Amino acid sequence: TTAYLNGEFLPLQEARISPLDRGFLFGDGIYEVVPSYGGRMVGFSQHFARMEKGLAMVEIAPSLTEQDTRDICQHLIDSNRETLGENIGVYLHVSRGADTRRFHAYPEGVQPTVFAFAFALTAPVNADRTIHAGAKVAITQDLRWQRCHIKSTALLGNVMHFQQGYREGNAETILFNGDGQITEASSSNVFIVKDGEVLTPPLDNQLLPGITRMLVLACLQKAGIPHSESWFSVDELNSADEVWLTSSGKEILPVVQVGDKTIADGKVGPVWEQAFTLYSKLKF
Ligand code: PDD
Repeated sequence: TTAYLNGEFLPLQEARISPLDRGFLFGDGIYEVVPSYGGRMVGFSQHFARMEKGLAMVEIAPSLTEQDTRDICQHLIDSNRETLGENIGVYLHVSRGADTRRFHAYPEGVQPTVFAFAFALTAPVNADRTIHAGAKVAITQDLRWQRCHIKSTALLGNVMHFQQGYREGNAETILFNGDGQITEASSSNVFIVKDGEVLTPPLDNQLLPGITRMLVLACLQKAGIPHSESWFSVDELNSADEVWLTSSGKEILPVVQVGDKTIADGKVGPVWEQAFTLYSKLKF
């Protein structure tokens, strides 16, 4: 497949970066994953805006405009569609760049590394809206850092949490904080439905401001489905009528089992179906 590295398109296998790149040595970088369907990106400007914010927070000077970035992503989608199919995710990555030494302080005058590549999206639910059987997920205390609102490429904490669930056959690992409140999952945001109201934790440093989360909230708002950004506990999650996870890769994934607890009757719920139908309209 064709990838993008520092101003040029090239075959992915030929892309090379320095081992001194701070993205490699420190996980010192910011990334995005933008989904596309039939050649059209969903939420590109929101993804770009989040990336710019993240870069500003870690003081990496953005080297590409929104239009340049959009053009790069679109080119990767168009040139890889034949190989990867209709549903493509674009991974976008900006690291602080390669310094001549390994020194913690932000170096001066270093050119950020910009890398992007396309991969096939395998959404949990087919485009023809085949009903999903519902996923099984793990749950554990969130042991990551306290800056989870930054989409950092330093993902070891997330990777360890994901692996913990994956090892036991789970699709994800839901996380709760020291107060027993759900924050998010290792690579997605969490929603529950209780008595007809959809709840998702409010944005703060404990969770990523997911673009899918934002788009789903907008869909619910538009359709007049009751919803609120509020904290909920592990107990409230366990006794919810529905549990969903959202991310650019998962879209809206219905969850029917959390640890050893079955959610409601163990079947995918009607509010998920409504939300998924609404969200799908953004795709086609
Ligand atoms: N993960 N929370 C975390 C910790 C994430 O890593 C992600 C996305 C989300 C959902 O964000 P969005 O809706 O913007 O994709 C929430 C990406 C897809 C990944 O690392 O592959």
